[in-house]
Amino acid sequence: MGFNVAIDGPAGAGKSTIAKRLAKELGFIYVDTGAMYRAIGLYMMNNGIDGADEEAVSSKVEDVVVSLAYEDGTQKVLLNGEDVSGLIRTEKVSAMASQTSAYRKVREHLLDLQRDMAKNNDVLMDGRDIGTTILPNADVKIYLTASVEERARRRYEEYLLKGEAADLEEIKEDIRTRDHNDMTRAVSPLKKADDAIEVDTSHMTVDEVVDHIKNLCKERM
Ligand code: DC
Repeated sequence: MGFNVAIDGPAGAGKSTIAKRLAKELGFIYVDTGAMYRAIGLYMMNNGIDGADEEAVSSKVEDVVVSLAYEDGTQKVLLNGEDVSGLIRTEKVSAMASQTSAYRKVREHLLDLQRDMAKNNDVLMDGRDIGTTILPNADVKIYLTASVEERARRRYEEYLLKGEAADLEEIKEDIRTRDHNDMTRAVSPLKKADDAIEVDTSHMTVDEVVDHIKNLCKERM
């Protein structure tokens, strides 16, 4: 069994930025489970499946093989053997992944892969249900959050940096909707595990968050 760190929390709290940095500093493997759900979303999109049709998605997911590969410490997501890492970060794939990740069959499809990675390696895994469902015995569980206002502001700045137009109020609404969907779905809703340590990043720098969590890990290693 490897040393397992679970990081859960809503979109925009900084999970992937923090987890990537921390994994590098601790020499752990970073497992981005959101990327796996995105790969399944991409597959459904490419095959013309309606994301709202649970039956169609559930039957089609049987044909999907998601795997992870690591190149210079960076995670690559393979969809039926093809590297799709560059194709899964679009708004369309986000929306599809948000819909399809709510389905039991889709979650079951990824469960063993995620658990096996943690069994065989020291991992830092981020997602929504890692501390509650996937790795209930993780050595360290973190619930990373930030206020809706701060998460919206971060996303707004990302858009501006990319030179894309954005509306702050619209982004806030979108975040509220996403939170509501993630937290109220029937299967594996986003929720702080009872034994998770909550870290609110609203007023913290990336360095401060990384140092704080690194210290929590070191205490238990
Ligand atoms: O973290 P992300 O935005 O890349 O995740 C993409 C989608 O997958 C998002 O709608 C939440 C969902 N997801 C999930 O349901 N469970 C996880 N462990 C990770 C992501």
